[in-house]
Amino acid sequence: MSKQRVSAHLTITRLTLTDFRNHANLRLEPTGDLVCLYGPNGAGKTNILEAISLLVPGRGLRAQDFHLLARLEGMGAWGVAAEVQTSEGEARLGTSFEGSAATTRKVAVNGQLQKSSGILAQHLKMLWLTPAQDRLFMGPASDRRRFFDRMVASFNAEHAGHVSAFEKLMRERNALLQQPRFDNVWAGTLETQMAEQAIAIAVARNEAANLLAKHFASGATQGAFPWGVLQLHGEIEELVAAFPAVQAEDEYAKILADSRGQDRAQQRTTKGPHRADISVLHGPKSTPAELCSTGEQKALLIGLVLAQTQAAKDVLGAAPILLLDEVAAHLDEARRRGLFASLASLGCQAWMTGTDENLFAEAGATACRYEVKDGIVHVRN
Ligand SMILES: Nc1ncnc2c1ncn2[C@@H]1O[C@H](COP(=O)(O)OP(=O)(O)OP(=O)(O)O)[C@@H](O)[C@H]1O
Ligand SMILES: [Mg+2]
Repeated sequence: MSKQRVSAHLTITRLTLTDFRNHANLRLEPTGDLVCLYGPNGAGKTNILEAISLLVPGRGLRAQDFHLLARLEGMGAWGVAAEVQTSEGEARLGTSFEGSAATTRKVAVNGQLQKSSGILAQHLKMLWLTPAQDRLFMGPASDRRRFFDRMVASFNAEHAGHVSAFEKLMRERNALLQQPRFDNVWAGTLETQMAEQAIAIAVARNEAANLLAKHFASGATQGAFPWGVLQLHGEIEELVAAFPAVQAEDEYAKILADSRGQDRAQQRTTKGPHRADISVLHGPKSTPAELCSTGEQKALLIGLVLAQTQAAKDVLGAAPILLLDEVAAHLDEARRRGLFASLASLGCQAWMTGTDENLFAEAGATACRYEVKDGIVHVRN
């Protein structure tokens, strides 16, 4: 895991959206650390968070196809640019999609076109919470895995790259499994490479889970939000805990080779880090998260994100940026105040949305308030 020490505060100082969803041309220059976006349903608040989420590797917080992000009345292309305060000082990050003929998005750092979006993780770290995650503890394991991998990526710049490299190799192996004449030699090559990525993924996940456990064990509180016990369940994560990394790689490569028959029958790779799951216990109640009430689950999710933000800050020296979509609406007034207080003491930039201005009444005088209406944003302080 890379442990670069940074002293700068991770902050977006200028954000520009071009033909992104319902925003034709938008420029924001937030001043405070708490950025509050309020306005009616459909105004374009979540769209702004989604645009920001594309400043790190991946497909953004809605994980939708890039062509869907282009403004309907536009020409089919979109762009997001930002000036950010990062570990290396100021940087200009940009990402764009050039229309339906394009296969992927382009990424530029300080005006230089980059080979892939992976480089963005060297500059920004980010965590987000959206209403779609409200059923995270009850839903499919893949959602929990994605959520947890984002937590890992919030302090490990290489993690997202390992996850996408593994997925690409696995897609190749899955295609091979479906061919009538199976190429054992090619399968072996792919499996060796998959094992390398898989072990890096599992090591990083175990490290993240241990960091979080250490954070909670230290008695650090998340203000109004509960602590949790997070447990990883995965064959590869167990291998990594039991063996040195090189041996774990050999063991997983052997597991893959041994399961070729079964995998060919099922036409997919049945064993690997893509099968891991995460279970969470609500600490103070000592109850599995999926049995907690809706409000308790939400509070626990916020608690996990705040804890991870602090844990990441302890490792990197700077907290990740937080995108909190409709978080305030779920909380009573005391908890809302508690959230703003926790965010202020964490010292991170947090972008929050809500339908009502009053939801942010307690965010303090230094908060930056924007009213969003039909894709137009008005500065309100
Ligand atoms: N590609 C697109 N082009 C133009 N408009 C779009 C596109 N994709 C989505 N929209 C519209 O953007 C609008 C704003 O969406 P967004 O999710 O940001 O709203 P919101 O302000 O977060 O609302 P809510 O309070 O309901 O969550 C929606 O009306 C949606 O139809
Ligand atoms: Mg929204």
